[in-house]
Amino acid sequence: MTATPAEESAVARLLAHVADFLGRPVPGEWARALRAVPRHLFLPDLVWLRDGRGGHAPCDRAREPARWWEAAYADVPVVTRLTREPGGATVPTSSASAPGTVVAMLEALDLRAGDRVLEIGTGTGWNAALLAVLAGDSGVVTVEVDAEVADRARAALAGAGRTPRVVTGDGAAGWPAGAPYQRVVATCSVRAVPPAWLDQLAAPGRLVAPWDAAWCSYGTLVVETDARGAATGRWQPGGSYMPLRPADDGVVDPGAGTATGTDAGGSPAAGAVAETERARPEPTPLSPWAVAGADYEAQFVVGLLVPGVWHAWETGERRAGVHARLWVRAEDGASTALVEVAAAGGRTTVRHRGPRRLWDEITAAWHWWHAAGRPDMTRFGYSREPGGRPLLWLDTPERPLPAGSVRP
Ligand SMILES: C[S@@+](CC[C@H](N)C(=O)[O-])C[C@H]1O[C@@H](n2cnc3c(N)ncnc32)[C@H](O)[C@@H]1O
Repeated sequence: MTATPAEESAVARLLAHVADFLGRPVPGEWARALRAVPRHLFLPDLVWLRDGRGGHAPCDRAREPARWWEAAYADVPVVTRLTREPGGATVPTSSASAPGTVVAMLEALDLRAGDRVLEIGTGTGWNAALLAVLAGDSGVVTVEVDAEVADRARAALAGAGRTPRVVTGDGAAGWPAGAPYQRVVATCSVRAVPPAWLDQLAAPGRLVAPWDAAWCSYGTLVVETDARGAATGRWQPGGSYMPLRPADDGVVDPGAGTATGTDAGGSPAAGAVAETERARPEPTPLSPWAVAGADYEAQFVVGLLVPGVWHAWETGERRAGVHARLWVRAEDGASTALVEVAAAGGRTTVRHRGPRRLWDEITAAWHWWHAAGRPDMTRFGYSREPGGRPLLWLDTPERPLPAGSVRP
């Protein structure tokens, strides 16, 4: 395929953006792949772009060709599918991921020519095309849960002259017919590594999966299997992806609307809010910003040690006498906590509702992390014997995480 001068300069811009993101030149093999599969060929005419206020607004190629083209070659994620959830919020459920993050993940995968590779989350098909440039088309299998998204990806791949196998189905099951794979890469995030992925990984092999927790979706788990199939891995910073969704989650395509929600959980129900507000406030020494602020290492640790617990800062009009409010909720909805920082003097209090004292659990997690010297995520590890249960640890498997931590 011959690129036009406009396409060539757009790809040169993209390479510069990715190099900025990496802080070094794009490795040769991935620079070649980025040139070989132009990103705009994988984007539908109607996409959604970040609106700067935490949401996404539509961009129609016919109406705004320059903005659409600019997004295609910028280091930004481009949302390609909105979904109306059963609760009514409209959330992004498929996108072309930001190119810098894509290349960082591909580097972490350490793909070699001739490897068989399984990708979970086909999306636009762009990443599958990049994988196919290096591994060869016949070596790549990619699984997408959304049938319409999978069909669009097949068409885009064909248009770009690439022919990896696109499977429509729940990627949590992998694709056993193509196993074993030397490499498995997820481009949707997981709270636990589906056993099928490790079972289908060759020995030795490597798996790369963006990490998700109810508290915070951040970090990428990189796992290697040895010749026995025993898996050991660690987290590395970066990677914030849409979550792996169940195959039948009642999604509805809302057309060209605007995203009204994020994919980050759900607010407490009105009754739970009122009940929590009526609970007695108790002083707490832990600042909500320590665990729900800009420190993603702290957020990562809370996500790992207190699984299934979600948080959100209250937005909207500020209440009299209150500087900030953080809502904390167990995903089963049974327990909530409200952390409030007073406007005068900054005194912090917490109100608990339900059987679990969620803020106490978070405080304990933060103290454990603090006492351990605030280790960053690269010191956290994952191991699993073939067919066994995973173990999470700090520095070595002899230092397992406290009981109650997520067991992926
Ligand atoms: C960030 S997008 C992937 C980007 C993609 N690799 C690309 O190059 O455009 C995440 C994708 O994962 C898909 N997904 C979510 N849950 C899944 C599952 N259980 N099985 C397979 N795909 C899934 C979503 O439908 C979405 O298309």
